[in-house]
Amino acid sequence: MKPFLFVTDLDHTLVGNDEALVELNQILNQHRQEYGTKIAYATGRSPVLYRELQVEKNLIEPDALVCSVGTEIYLNNSDSPDADWSNILSPGWNRELVFSVAKSFPELSPQPDSEQRPFKVSFFVKQEFADKILPQIETKLQKYALNIKLIYSSGIDLDIVPRSSDKGQAMQFLRQKWQFAAEQTVVCGDSGNDIALFAVGNERGIIVGNARSELLQWHSEYPADYRYLAQGSCAGGILEGLQYFGFL
Ligand code: GLC
Ligand code: MG
Repeated sequence: MKPFLFVTDLDHTLVGNDEALVELNQILNQHRQEYGTKIAYATGRSPVLYRELQVEKNLIEPDALVCSVGTEIYLNNSDSPDADWSNILSPGWNRELVFSVAKSFPELSPQPDSEQRPFKVSFFVKQEFADKILPQIETKLQKYALNIKLIYSSGIDLDIVPRSSDKGQAMQFLRQKWQFAAEQTVVCGDSGNDIALFAVGNERGIIVGNARSELLQWHSEYPADYRYLAQGSCAGGILEGLQYFGFL
């Protein structure tokens, strides 16, 4: 058995199937101890909402925590985000301007304060408005030459982040830092903000059986043999995929 880099989304991917999660946690912990496998969580949640979930679901301590859709990386349980990563995101980013331009669209309502982060501005937008309004927001923000990217998930969440940031780019930052080959890296997800994990390179991918339509649609447009669509839901689907790729 060889060490691998395990990167997973939390809500409806790692978390959502309690029985399978207990089994997966035990297997991952053991793999980490025996072979030096690394565990990273990549979530849209802020650190505050992450801690709530960690306590509620008894999540094992990761080697790296990627929060706020890839805009913050916390290594080895540190309280402060990795400065090298923040430095990559800073050029051309202006969160006040992004927020004020975006909030002028009446279809958008701001998410709670805890989810407004230094490199992430987040709103709720109903699916029925999304197709029409997102390109308009993007065009308007680009008029100000802002370095931004829009990420829409789960038919409701809109995140605006620096262009150099998303879960996929954060994952590759970790992969290079820890020197894992793409073939020894596996990423897992269920929704729109996870597309970046699957799209950035040829890391092994596991789409859980309960994935949202935006991810399934993307997968059917860009199929790849290094990506596995599981039958099982959440941690059950992850276990299935880890076996499929021979990581376990
Ligand atoms: C989490 C975050 C939210 C974000 C969503 C999608 O729910 O709390 O701010 O919009 O993930 O990335
Ligand atoms: Mg999710």
